[in-house]
Amino acid sequence: TNDNFILAIESSCDETSASIIVDGKVLNNIVATQSVHEKYGGVVPELASRAHQENLIPVVQEAVLSAGITVDQLAAVAFTRGPGLMGSLLVGVSFAKALAFARKIPLIEVNHMQAHILAHFIDDPKPSFPFICLTVSGGHTQLVLVKGYLEMEVIGETQDDAVGEAFDKTAKLLGLPYPGGPLIDKYAKEGNPKAFKFPVTRMPGLNYSFSGIKTAVLYFLRDQLQENPKFIEENLADLCASIQFTLIEMLQIKLKEAVKQYGVKEIAIAGGVSANSGLRNTLQELAEKKGWKLYIPKFEYCTDNAAMIAMAAYYKFLAKDFSSYDVTPLAKMKI
Ligand code: KG4
Ligand code: ZN
Repeated sequence: TNDNFILAIESSCDETSASIIVDGKVLNNIVATQSVHEKYGGVVPELASRAHQENLIPVVQEAVLSAGITVDQLAAVAFTRGPGLMGSLLVGVSFAKALAFARKIPLIEVNHMQAHILAHFIDDPKPSFPFICLTVSGGHTQLVLVKGYLEMEVIGETQDDAVGEAFDKTAKLLGLPYPGGPLIDKYAKEGNPKAFKFPVTRMPGLNYSFSGIKTAVLYFLRDQLQENPKFIEENLADLCASIQFTLIEMLQIKLKEAVKQYGVKEIAIAGGVSANSGLRNTLQELAEKKGWKLYIPKFEYCTDNAAMIAMAAYYKFLAKDFSSYDVTPLAKMKI
């Protein structure tokens, strides 16, 4: 029997997930999505941690069972240490510590943002080092120079909201349910991206700011609705297309600058927003024009998942980079 099985746990936000990896090969990726947040229009931290408590053991059990192993065969337990919601992280960390302590096996802490990037090594084709990764999700927007599996440098990031947050918050202003990002994507396909003009915020260096668009859309809609109470329903596709266009514009401007600055042509995108079809098309066109090699993981590995935690854990396992049993979660954690 093989004794290199690693169990990985992800519980940083609102997905409870477990995955088993062996010798760098991900065997499964079990995810329990929490629907309890929908009616609140955003993730409610208190409810998220409770749902993790309910979901974690069943999710782990399914991962272990479907890998055809028992917990006695685990060589290590990995978990997301941060960044994320403290109450959510605590559930995964406590479970991982207890299991590792009981089995007397190593404990491996994983940085969630590193893991999003290492999701590119789950399947082929894999980027080669160095590459630039644009990580875009509901919680993060970062440009990272990736020099090695565990050697990464943040070269730009949002100074306020994440781009996924901007999608979700502007969607809310349009009366769309949470999370609105995928719905903006859907309606944008039928709309004109140049119909309405919203400001493109330009931050110094390679940094981003996405809080301005929400205010711009809010005031724009308020004025339009005063003249025409049906303005949103009559212009939904154009509104979605124009908002999406503005967000993609901001993302690509800094990405192009980063590529120029670092002279790297291997480009990857990660995080939930990389599912956005407008962003994919824009980057694919850019890649063709500029001779970049573009990498986008399967959607399953773009949103929060434990397979990416397992991938990161595998490289740390090889490096024997283990944590002590008194490790605590970090709501904020640098790459
Ligand atoms: O990575 P993820 O699942 O969770 C976080 O770590 O935040 O990302 C979720 C975010 C949400 O803001 C959601 O609206 C956005 O990804 N998202 C999209 C699309 N699919 C998911 N945004 C725009 N277009 C999409 N197709
Ligand atoms: Zn994430």
